[in-house]
Amino acid sequence: MPRVRLLPPACLLLVLLGCAATPPASLFERLGGPAGVSDLMGRTLARAAADPRTQRSFEGIKLSPLQQSLTEQICALAGGGCRYQGETMARVHQDLHIKPSEFDAFVEMLRQEIDRGGSDARAKNELLRLLAPMKQAIVSP
Ligand code: HEM
Repeated sequence: MPRVRLLPPACLLLVLLGCAATPPASLFERLGGPAGVSDLMGRTLARAAADPRTQRSFEGIKLSPLQQSLTEQICALAGGGCRYQGETMARVHQDLHIKPSEFDAFVEMLRQEIDRGGSDARAKNELLRLLAPMKQAIVSP
């Protein structure tokens, strides 16, 4: 008959500690990691560039470098380990004179695209909470 071996209590403790020490997935990972976030930004920018509420700002703008820069920024903000190397939000948006309604429409499209991508509501809200304070720097009269 096979002998059933029980783990000594000290081993059990180590196993439990090992589980507890596993770092939780970063927000960046929960949003889909590099490929998922880049895709999310691409879809959001494509919509913003076509939507009558926001399109005027994107006329003549190359979306692909913007998608890359946004992805890097989200990676830096959401614990993905990147360093954002772009311009400050105030400087890059100041000449666009973005109205609060344009900002809100952009965020609404982003929210809808996160939903379409299948990230959970908690990840979505965490990202939106990180972006909300930027409104002040992005919107200008
Ligand atoms: C939370 C909201 C937003 C974030 C996080 C964000 C982030 C960024 C980033 C990272 C860049 C690139 C900076 C660089 O590479 O140096 C950028 C550029 C730009 N953003 Fe935003 N943005 C936001 C809202 C908006 C809105 C609401 C609009 C227009 C309706 C907009 C239009 C643009 C345009 C047109 C550029 C390119 C400017 C240029 O190349 O001259 N952004 N944004």
